[in-house]
Amino acid sequence: MKIVISGASGDLGRKITALLLQQVPASELILLTRKPETLAAEATKGADVRHADFNDAPGLERALRGGDVLMLISTLSIGKRVHQHTTAIHAAKAAGVRHVVYTSSCGIQPQTPSISGKEHYATEQALQSSGLHYTILRNSWYADVIPQLLMPAGIAMGAIGFSTGNGMVAPVAKDDCARAAAGVLANYKAHANAIYEITGPQLFTLADMFQHCSTVSRKPIVYQNLSHAEKQSVFDAMGISRGYEEGMMNDTTNAWASDEMLTYEMAIKQGFFSICSRHVEMITGKSALSFAEVVQLHRASWDK
Ligand SMILES: NC(=O)c1ccc[n+]([C@@H]2O[C@H](COP(=O)([O-])OP(=O)(O)OC[C@H]3O[C@@H](n4cnc5c(N)ncnc54)[C@H](OP(=O)(O)O)[C@@H]3O)[C@@H](O)[C@H]2O)c1
Repeated sequence: MKIVISGASGDLGRKITALLLQQVPASELILLTRKPETLAAEATKGADVRHADFNDAPGLERALRGGDVLMLISTLSIGKRVHQHTTAIHAAKAAGVRHVVYTSSCGIQPQTPSISGKEHYATEQALQSSGLHYTILRNSWYADVIPQLLMPAGIAMGAIGFSTGNGMVAPVAKDDCARAAAGVLANYKAHANAIYEITGPQLFTLADMFQHCSTVSRKPIVYQNLSHAEKQSVFDAMGISRGYEEGMMNDTTNAWASDEMLTYEMAIKQGFFSICSRHVEMITGKSALSFAEVVQLHRASWDK
């Protein structure tokens, strides 16, 4: 069996690779990246590290040859992703790959206002009509984002606001997304044509989550219920670009487009993220981490 992982140099790709290396010989892994030198350690262990770029269809097809199953980790290039993902699906088919596992998002419906949700919807459609076997992993919001990124900002400002209203989310640990993906890849034929909701074990409003963090940290944060127009003004005042720009995630003050973040909040408010499943447990045999457990994992960063 040969498992191909795209985005293998990224955070999620590295977590999935590390888990698979505990279950299958390194020689069964083909790792794709535009920068093979970043995966030198994995190559030393015996993994086949290959150059691949979603913007280069012939090169991608060459890189996928010999693979049985592809872990297609969605890219971050909003606006280009449907083309990139569709290129990868077609290249996989042309290269003889039989099965694609795709990292989608929670609440994938044609009516979702979320820009990334629409792109995941289009990719899911392309995958389901490709003739390949597939497994779709609809990852909910990473629980880690709140204690790692949003809580330090809330502590610094003493307040934080969202336009998600009473919309609910079952945030999931990124490690559980990786565990679910590795579990599917190691036994992919058993998961043919399944769509899984990869969520945490409990639904919360954003206000619930910040109340919990505030209590745990003993650093009071005022939670503000904002309208979408008010939230847009907050993003604009922070100098965050409305549209996506390539490479922006490397800029700590302008790391993601506000159009995408605002429409994500709209999707939460409209109930598209109000999904809580036990699919992590079903796939991995271990229950998903609770939000409180994820907070404990990251809270050291607040105490600095
Ligand atoms: N659920 C959530 O809350 C949430 C939040 C944010 C992101 N996400 C999702 O999380 C996943 C990525 O997470 P991550 O943390 O691993 O991201 P990351 O660390 O930024 O890694 C991104 C990966 O994508 C690869 N990539 C980007 N453009 C590419 C291209 N044109 N051709 C080939 N490879 C390309 C990069 O590979 P090279 O640079 O090495 O080529 C890199 O390995 C994505 O599926 C994203 O949609 C989910």
